[in-house]
Amino acid sequence: MSKSEFQLNLRHRPRRNRKSAAIRSMLAETRLHPSQFVLPIFVREGENIREPIGSMPGVYRLSIDQVLRVAKEAVDVGICAVILFPVIRVDLKDNQATEAINKNGLLPRAIAALKHALPELVVMADVALDPYNSDGHDGLVQGEAVDNDSTVHLLCQQALMQAASGVDIVAPSDMMDGRIGAIRTALDAHGFTQVSILSYCAKYASGYYGPFREALASAPRFGDKKSYQMDPANRREAVRELLLDEAEGADILMVKPALAYLDVIHQLKRQAKVPIAAYQVSGEYSMVMAAGEKGWLDADRVMFENLLAIRRAGADLIFTYWALTAAQKL
Ligand code: PBG
Repeated sequence: MSKSEFQLNLRHRPRRNRKSAAIRSMLAETRLHPSQFVLPIFVREGENIREPIGSMPGVYRLSIDQVLRVAKEAVDVGICAVILFPVIRVDLKDNQATEAINKNGLLPRAIAALKHALPELVVMADVALDPYNSDGHDGLVQGEAVDNDSTVHLLCQQALMQAASGVDIVAPSDMMDGRIGAIRTALDAHGFTQVSILSYCAKYASGYYGPFREALASAPRFGDKKSYQMDPANRREAVRELLLDEAEGADILMVKPALAYLDVIHQLKRQAKVPIAAYQVSGEYSMVMAAGEKGWLDADRVMFENLLAIRRAGADLIFTYWALTAAQKL
């Protein structure tokens, strides 16, 4: 039999569902939309400043006026939310993270400016001490350890200060025990019943945060974060955190990083009754951008592939440094 006469007797030919761009588009199981992206923004002091971050090509430390410009661009392409990370001057950092609760600090000024200029934009802020703490840890250091309860006390004050400056969602990223419930109680007691809590629920002790710590100059001065962030070996432990955070009143749960933890995203999505977010962190962004710059892969293509993978695993929301780029290309 010649090659052209050979025919399999197949009832099922899955390729029929891939035969044209229109059919593929019609049958796509997972979709990306700008409203699913949250844009992280690094904010710094000064005016008219766009300072490049060496380890994150295309990402900048922005003065507040530039933050407003970028946030406007985000709104214009359909992005609904941003999260702010302040770059705190070294001379303002101390081992009590005092600047974290300064109501005239950089972060509350940025929140207020954003809510004033773009009232419809959802503004989130990170609740944790590391940008303000001269020790570089997310909590207060006592001896060689990060103390849980005194840290939570301060995190509540930090969340209250952010709420007072107009934040829509506070996002505790510190991984202290009991902080979701304590922050909910504090917010409610001060009349901020409408301020939501997005909990970094399963946040792993990850090497992928490297570029972020360069961006904020916030690397721990000693030791690592393994006594509070989770062991990458564990998934059941993420379920334990989920059950606690849900019971304590979290409105949204996050898994972080994203790509190396797709199984965790999938598991939490199945078990939780609240929406699931995933943080595609700095290292995930920078390694694709670096390989793209070298011409080793097509960065845009891999960007979309990774974002789709995170959605396919079950994330409702994705925190991503590609939010603007991806939304513009969609
Ligand atoms: C700190 C915080 C980190 C990130 C977000 N909030 C770093 C860390 O835990 O050391 C990382 C984000 C990223 O890498 O993009 N509370």
